[in-house]
Amino acid sequence: MLIKHKPALSEAQVTPKSIYVDRRSFIRQTLAGTLALSGLGLSVSPALAAQAENPSRSAWRQKLASPLATMQKSPYSTTETPAPLKDIQRYNNFYEFGTGKGDPGEHAGGLTIDPWRVVVEGEVEKPGSYMLEDLIKSHLLEERIYRLRCVEAWSMVIPWVGIPLSALIARFKPTSRARYVLFESLVRPEEMPGQRSLFSGIDWPYQEGLRIDEAMHPLTLMAVGLYGDILPNQNGAPFRLVVPWKYGFKSIKSIVKIGFVETMPPTTWNQLQPGEYGFYANVNPAVDHPRWSQKTERRLPGGLFGANRIETMPFNGYAEEVTSLYAGMDLSANY
Ligand code: MTE
Repeated sequence: MLIKHKPALSEAQVTPKSIYVDRRSFIRQTLAGTLALSGLGLSVSPALAAQAENPSRSAWRQKLASPLATMQKSPYSTTETPAPLKDIQRYNNFYEFGTGKGDPGEHAGGLTIDPWRVVVEGEVEKPGSYMLEDLIKSHLLEERIYRLRCVEAWSMVIPWVGIPLSALIARFKPTSRARYVLFESLVRPEEMPGQRSLFSGIDWPYQEGLRIDEAMHPLTLMAVGLYGDILPNQNGAPFRLVVPWKYGFKSIKSIVKIGFVETMPPTTWNQLQPGEYGFYANVNPAVDHPRWSQKTERRLPGGLFGANRIETMPFNGYAEEVTSLYAGMDLSANY
């Protein structure tokens, strides 16, 4: 996001790429199995081969099969139409796999997502290293259709599947000193080419944080799926945060650590560019980013030329639910 030496793909570059990705997934589905692609004069890139064969995705899907089968619809869902899956999967920010919007779709398929452990530490009575399935199994999965508003002024409607973070926090039993929750993403450079690149500028792991009352808010979701299936790797499989009233960079992907701390934890984008990305990062059309307006957003998928501009809503349309969290705070200063 917004690192100048390797800019994100332009819309013109993304469109042909997406057609390319679709064509490859068609080839993968129809010619899967023993058919020798090379005999047809086709070649398969290592990334594509990994996507087709990654056994950890099948293993994780199997573990989640019965929770997914009993998934409930949530009253917190928007009635807006979700973006098609192909758009949700091909236009991503996941710098561990590269800085272009198509890079995560291209390179994340080979990520090993099972087994997956989450370390819980700090100010809690029940710290530990938990298998992800053990964290999920006693909770009912919910489908939550939320708007996701990126700080770059694009947005999508996404049908997440997950559990409220508050339900997880309750089982870890935070102490009275736990005022903030921190999150860390996976560091695995051998599977994450963006972590091998010198150009991201990020000091891995990607880190995020919430105030404990934000973390406990009923809208705050830990997602394990979308469109009724496990999460695509490029969307943060197997386990990510979704905070729908904040800019998308708060919604950290592929989480391996949750910590409970007394003081505000450092967060990746805030550390990189503190003048541009705050800790709170609540969606606020009244406060422009220093380099562009936040009054409107491009709702994806757009039309032919990306045209589908809509007005940005305070707190991304969740003001009624969350404004009280910030009573007494100057929202124009807490960007
Ligand atoms: N989490 C990690 N670990 N790495 C990232 O680069 N990008 C963030 C967020 N979570 C990011 C991340 C940003 S800027 C956005 S807008 C959302 O993921 C995008 O989520 P999506 O690709 O599923 O739409």
